[in-house]
Amino acid sequence: MRKPFVAGNWKMNLNRAEAVALATAVAAIARENAGVEVGIIPPFVYIDAVVGAVNKAPLGVGAQDVYFEKSGAFTGEISTAMLADLHVKYVLVGHSERRHVLGENDALLNKKLHCVLNAGLTAILCVGETLEQRKAEKTFDVCRTQLVEGLKGVDAAKASQLVVAYEPVWAIGTGLNATKEQAQEVHAFIRKELAGILSQAAAEGMRIQYGGSVKASNAAELMSQPDVDGALVGGAALKAEEFAGIVAAAGKSKA
Ligand code: PGA
Repeated sequence: MRKPFVAGNWKMNLNRAEAVALATAVAAIARENAGVEVGIIPPFVYIDAVVGAVNKAPLGVGAQDVYFEKSGAFTGEISTAMLADLHVKYVLVGHSERRHVLGENDALLNKKLHCVLNAGLTAILCVGETLEQRKAEKTFDVCRTQLVEGLKGVDAAKASQLVVAYEPVWAIGTGLNATKEQAQEVHAFIRKELAGILSQAAAEGMRIQYGGSVKASNAAELMSQPDVDGALVGGAALKAEEFAGIVAAAGKSKA
């Protein structure tokens, strides 16, 4: 049985006080939903303050990105050691905004992923197709390539440190979520690919989150699908009440 995992990606939002207030509210949500793994992924500069606000609640803190070098002359970058030092648990690798706005490619993301795993942290590898790719019926090809290239050289023994997020690019921040059938179809495909890339056991144990316009009102439906093991939430993660609804829906549908 895979424990559902709901994480809030705060992206480039909030100020310090707002981040601390939201983390405090989500800490309470996490305490009330023991059946769900809950995470928050604030901007780098607020990680330290947010970790303090979480205190001892069962709430993991993540980072939105990382650089793959250990240390040195890499102005503006952040290492896994720095993140581990702040008690960070998860790192997003290959979020669609990193791929499509910041131009990160699969080879770079593979280096980042190895670095995260070697540091003992959990990588959330994000994959997903654009609208043009979906229209051209390339969804499976795109997801397969992003998985194969992103996970190149990864040992199946590291599967417990891996989460995949399926985030169709056309659904991110648009209010247009995938239907439950569309999500399930791609999630099942991803799990099958993971079995080939890693192992059957690894694939069965790994959580595959859905991301893209998840809200309290559509979470239950999406999470009712057998291969949808949680959500990676953007906009709706910035409102505690909305996020609480998503976490509760994940707990209920997988109970
Ligand atoms: P959204 O973002 O929930 O605002 O669509 C999801 C994501 O980018 O992780």
